[in-house]
Amino acid sequence: MDGIREIIGRIADGRMGDDEATEFLRVVFDDGLAQDELVEMTLAMRDSGTKIDWIDDIARRVVDKHSTGGVGDKVSISLAPALAACGAAVPMISGRALGHTGGTLDKLESIPGFDTEMTFLELKNQVIEIGLAIVGQNQDLVPADRRMYALRDLTGLIASVPLITSSIISKKAAEGITSLVLDVKTGKGAFMQSQDQAETLARSMKKIAESIGITTTCLVTSMDHPIGYAVGNSLEIIESVETLCGRGPADLEELVCIQGGVLLGSIGLAEDNEHGAVMIQDSLYDGTAYSKFLQMVSAQGGNPEIFSSDHSLMQALGILDEDLLSFEIKAEQSGWVRDIDAMLVAELCLGLGAGRSEIEGHIDHSVGLLLNVSVGSPIMRGQSLATVYHRGFDEKGMLAVRKGFQISEDEPDVASRILEMF
Ligand code: URA
Repeated sequence: MDGIREIIGRIADGRMGDDEATEFLRVVFDDGLAQDELVEMTLAMRDSGTKIDWIDDIARRVVDKHSTGGVGDKVSISLAPALAACGAAVPMISGRALGHTGGTLDKLESIPGFDTEMTFLELKNQVIEIGLAIVGQNQDLVPADRRMYALRDLTGLIASVPLITSSIISKKAAEGITSLVLDVKTGKGAFMQSQDQAETLARSMKKIAESIGITTTCLVTSMDHPIGYAVGNSLEIIESVETLCGRGPADLEELVCIQGGVLLGSIGLAEDNEHGAVMIQDSLYDGTAYSKFLQMVSAQGGNPEIFSSDHSLMQALGILDEDLLSFEIKAEQSGWVRDIDAMLVAELCLGLGAGRSEIEGHIDHSVGLLLNVSVGSPIMRGQSLATVYHRGFDEKGMLAVRKGFQISEDEPDVASRILEMF
């Protein structure tokens, strides 16, 4: 295709009208792009805005992760501080909740005062000073993608491997990172329902990221049931704090340690991935990751004092609000929990107000669902499967989530969420 850089430039600065730009996106959607064209498009998108240049000493330690979006996916909130505690530099530009998936920024904004808006210079300075920042996309970050994504959203052109690849990798490239880990989700609560689709997207992103000099490792992970126990913004902050203090759920801790280990291994701060995973785990158990998290909260406008006790944290996060009601979902039979449908849990939480169905939608940070069991738990009839935190939601709607809990007579095997790594 001729002049991709020119086309992207004209899309970014508005010289190309909506119809012509959409026509270009539709051609890519329908016919795909050759590898060299996709690299050219990704670089042109990256160059449409500001790119962070790091000085040498930091440059080789700058890392990030990207997840394609899940249910209860709070990995970034523990991973970024743990990486910083181990010596990496993490300029994490994250997204918001949309549809059934949650967003790291919304979760962090449950912390009163936490500010996710920053200029590139502020982001860079905070990372130099304390090793991490988690912020939203600003006007200068890949403006070409901003326009392309809005047009794709309006015209049904989101589900395209080359368009998703260039969108995600151009933004990561603008952060000036050396190494990237991609967590591509598959299963009931993921955008990519089949493992094959997830693998195709993962391989495309890895190929393009590596062609432009970013060392990249992909994990294809199962998103059939929610990650950890908490789904909902404030509840997920509490679970992240537990994880940062070495008391997190095993599946969440595994995702944090494996992804962090890969990054520490790839930038040479660990001997290899396994050693890196141990370093990350140590940082969760010895308080250094938590202390980085508190530094980030303070640097971004939050009050670290609210983390001084469980009570003050729950109060600050709105969990003790008088108008926040709770409702128990009880098991109708005894046995073992075989599965918990992530999509049904996500749809309930969206209905409660924990997420948004359109980009400008309002979020209620305190509502959500807390699982009282995990896959593999024994359960007695009448025992609580989950507690729903709501503001007067209809009971029938809450009970609908019960069919997402599969109870079997035999104890199921509990598998790792990590299906593939390459
Ligand atoms: N997330 C992005 O940033 N871009 C896409 O195209 C899809 C998901």
